[in-house]
Amino acid sequence: MFEFVVPCLFGLEGPCAEELRRMGLGDVRAENGRVRFTGDMSACARANIRLRTGERVLLRLGGFEAKTFDALFEGVKALPLGDFIPRDGQFPVKGYCLDSALHSVPDCQRIIKKASAVKLGQTYRTQWLSETGPLYQLQFSIVRDRAEIFLDTTGAPLFKRGYRPGHVAAPLRETLAAALVGLARYRGRDALWDPFCGSGTIPIEAALIAHNRAPGLDRPFAAQHWPIAADKIWADAKDEARSLEYPGPYHIFASDIDPKAMALARENARRAGVEVDITFSVSDARTASAPWDKGAIVCNPPYGERMMERQEAQALYRDMGRTLGRLEGWKQYIISSEPDFERFYGAPATKRRKLYNGMILCYLNMYY
Ligand SMILES: C[S@@+](CC[C@H](N)C(=O)[O-])C[C@H]1O[C@@H](n2cnc3c(N)ncnc32)[C@H](O)[C@@H]1O
Repeated sequence: MFEFVVPCLFGLEGPCAEELRRMGLGDVRAENGRVRFTGDMSACARANIRLRTGERVLLRLGGFEAKTFDALFEGVKALPLGDFIPRDGQFPVKGYCLDSALHSVPDCQRIIKKASAVKLGQTYRTQWLSETGPLYQLQFSIVRDRAEIFLDTTGAPLFKRGYRPGHVAAPLRETLAAALVGLARYRGRDALWDPFCGSGTIPIEAALIAHNRAPGLDRPFAAQHWPIAADKIWADAKDEARSLEYPGPYHIFASDIDPKAMALARENARRAGVEVDITFSVSDARTASAPWDKGAIVCNPPYGERMMERQEAQALYRDMGRTLGRLEGWKQYIISSEPDFERFYGAPATKRRKLYNGMILCYLNMYY
């Protein structure tokens, strides 16, 4: 049994923990910006393949107090690195320090690298580690003088699903899009509409959720090449995920004022294998009529910071409130960085939730 840590965007700890629990994983605990669980390497494969809202799955090698470089060195040297990293494994180091006496990330990286090399050299009775084999990315966090050392089992982050090589100017991260769909409680019943779909992230994630299709079926993971996680573990986890899929059809609608964005969204949906589930159209959200009799609108209209001047965005929110906001039978879930969104939209939200789109503080304004 190992302990795993899944870093996630701030605000997504709850949805991420819920996903892990629904997968049947043990001892799930959410904390600031990350979620822990315990399990074996099959649990690790399951989480990597099926997680929608987490960024990666880290295997925890150990934790200890580290107020000095000596303590950091000795703490790392005491870890059972040879149980995981083979003689030729590559072991680069990255991480972060927060509120700690050790605050220089490059210095900590150097110390951890050196301690790991000494330990592996002792384990394999060699002074020469070629680092020509598979990747064992070491990650560290030093928070309030407590160091934790991890191995990254994921590789390229989990939001890289593989369907979105092309995106518009301000795309939503796939993990956040999946969380919005989850917070809207969309499971494939009724309809879902994104009237500002850009590269199509929200409708595509909605279709994957409706089908219960695991987002990681077609991508590689770092730990697939590790001796402790045999190929069969990954093949079994993929078979299990496929056996849980639902066939559809679903009523998902994606529109955008920009024909180029529309074409890109369609292309991305084709790559994700969900083009048949989504009806695409070019339309202005300020005048568009509802594509179905009831459902949920889930969208991220332009924010002032990145795509339009703030005032233009505020005028757009006003227009949205007069059209989308008055549609009968449609719940609305609108993410925006505008703190006064409700005032411009013309109605107080039923509930608001703080979320981060990358580094931007946003609010999910929920009307239901
Ligand atoms: C922040 S982006 C959405 C990004 C999208 N969620 C993604 O992941 O790619 C906002 C989108 O709204 C579109 N847009 C701006 N004004 C619009 C309007 N009045 N009606 C419909 N779409 C509009 C833009 O073309 C842009 O694609």
